[in-house]
Amino acid sequence: MINVDKIRADFPILKRTVHGKPLVYFDNAATSQTPQVVIDAIVDYYSNYNANIHRGVHTLSQEATDKYEEARIKIQKHFNAKEAYEIILTSGTTDSINMIASGFASLLNKGDEIIVSALEHHSNIVPWQMLCEKTGAILKVIPMHEDGSLQIDVYYNLLNKNTKLVFCNHVSNALGTVNPIKKIIDAAHKVNAAVLIDGAQATPHIKPDVQALNVDFYVASAHKLCGPTGVGLLYGKQEWLEKLPPYQGGGEMIATVTFEKTTYAGLPHKFEAGTPNICGGIAFGTAIDYLNSIGFDEIAEYENELLEYGTQELLKIDGLKIYGTSKEKTAVISFNIDKIHPYDIGSILDKLGIAVRTGHHCAQPIMDFYKIPGTIRASFSFYNTKEEIDILVAGVKRAAMMLS
Ligand code: ALA
Repeated sequence: MINVDKIRADFPILKRTVHGKPLVYFDNAATSQTPQVVIDAIVDYYSNYNANIHRGVHTLSQEATDKYEEARIKIQKHFNAKEAYEIILTSGTTDSINMIASGFASLLNKGDEIIVSALEHHSNIVPWQMLCEKTGAILKVIPMHEDGSLQIDVYYNLLNKNTKLVFCNHVSNALGTVNPIKKIIDAAHKVNAAVLIDGAQATPHIKPDVQALNVDFYVASAHKLCGPTGVGLLYGKQEWLEKLPPYQGGGEMIATVTFEKTTYAGLPHKFEAGTPNICGGIAFGTAIDYLNSIGFDEIAEYENELLEYGTQELLKIDGLKIYGTSKEKTAVISFNIDKIHPYDIGSILDKLGIAVRTGHHCAQPIMDFYKIPGTIRASFSFYNTKEEIDILVAGVKRAAMMLS
């Protein structure tokens, strides 16, 4: 059972006001807030052992290296990867996806097929289009239903011997739909296609087990998980990471360098050229510890309560329509009111201290499907409350009255 008052005390930002009103933060799908323990980890790093890693014999460098590698092990355990070296620390989900897209450029041939879902964020569409341009591969799309779920039977029919890769988000950022990723992975493996799951929006709510899923690649960002921005992960099965060429050349990703020939370092260093976000990686580990101390079952149960309450209360408003109504959803409510532009409602909500995201949420194909310019998206976290939802509902009513 979540003790929300105790949890809220962990987040200093939740005490602030915006335009003279207490902050109501409902933009968690864009980025989550940061608990004091993660802020402390960042301050501790820069105050006490800031040094480059894997490079120095001196004490500070060794301390920083140990903490960074401890964080990798925390992340490995959290995602249940078989080996710590299957966890590549990147600058975030987009970086992780581009790393795989770049690697596959050397493995694909003209006429090979790549499948993405209609629910993707632009970061899981554009890199594959660029890859298709480079290789002559063909991009196919799993269509969606009106309720925001995927047409899974169409997906099964898209798979064939030419399919080399399947990409799908675990949870849609724009609608909150939880996709049936185990079915998607198992079906792709029947035709020997590799699968990448974008877990950016799932990982704040669900603890994925990459071995049980038997997924080839799983990517996510720390900043959606109460960690800092600029750091994320790429999980890859060892066999795939060994097969893919390095993404960037530079220091620390090599075994030997001469002007005639360079040999590459083993995993994970082959994919970690240059000085990484050391502090960010360490703080990512702290954030994972923090979330596990609350418990993902508890988080899911509480957020579902918020989702049900928010859905029920918002639907009482005249003319309000929710996009994304599938049964399997995380705590995201995307909505519009009549023909009022989402931006106008979002601006009024901001004046009331309420933070939501408005627009196409980097998922223009979903907005095109519904023939709308965008939505107002309220996304909840375990530190939100029903009282805050009441404030949102009152704010939306007031905005609608002012604008209609
Ligand atoms: N991808 C993030 C969002 O959905 C930024 O808002």
